Amino acid sequence: MNRPLIAGNWKMYKSIDETVNLINTIKAGIHAATDVDVVVCPPFTVLAAASEALRDSRIDLGAQDMYFETEGAFTGEISPLMLKDVGCRYVILGHSERRTLFKETDELVNKKVLAALKFSFIPIVCIGETLEEREARRAFEVVKQQFERSLANLDPEEMERIVIAYEPVWAIGTGRTATPEQAEQMHTYIRRLLHEKCGEEMAQKVRILYGGSVKPDNIAQLMGKPNVDGALVGGASIKAESFIQIVLNSIILESQEEQKK
Ligand code: PGA
Repeated sequence: MNRPLIAGNWKMYKSIDETVNLINTIKAGIHAATDVDVVVCPPFTVLAAASEALRDSRIDLGAQDMYFETEGAFTGEISPLMLKDVGCRYVILGHSERRTLFKETDELVNKKVLAALKFSFIPIVCIGETLEEREARRAFEVVKQQFERSLANLDPEEMERIVIAYEPVWAIGTGRTATPEQAEQMHTYIRRLLHEKCGEEMAQKVRILYGGSVKPDNIAQLMGKPNVDGALVGGASIKAESFIQIVLNSIILESQEEQKK
């Protein structure tokens, strides 16, 4: 059983003051939750303030995107070195909003993943089908293609360092969560793809997060599934109360642990 990981994707929200307040409240609220890894991914403009507020805490800092070049004439982009400099350990890559709204391709995501690994980040690589694709019964095919292309050219040692987030696009920000069974079905499939790519031992070690309308009241059921290792949380991560509850409710009870085996 992998150690649970809860990551908050703040998207394009929060000022510097709001960031510091939110982080201080989260820190206090999850103080006792030592059996779960927690990451917050605020916007670029508040990363420095977040980094400072997270000093001496167990909560890690992540970014929501990153360019693959280290420096140069790339107006508007942020490099791995800059994210290192500000104290990021994680980086979300290939989020569906980047893929859909900003036309990011699997090939671009792959370059970013390789760069992130080169600079020792833990990339949270997002994959997931749209509603149209699910209704056309193409969900597995789409996820397989994104998996293979976004994670091309990674050696087994690098595969071990990634986190995968399965985020069905139809569940993001819609309040329409995948059922725990739907999530488990796709997570099992992703685990099989990992197995084919890098063998059973490695496949078991890679954490697969679920994302899409995760809330305090559905996290426990999702976490009860054997192949769900955590969550990537959007909307509910920018309110202290709901994020704290998600972190606390994500901790697997012993009774659930038995079922997971
Ligand atoms: P949501 O977003 O929790 O608001 O659905 C998830 C995400 O975009 O990562």
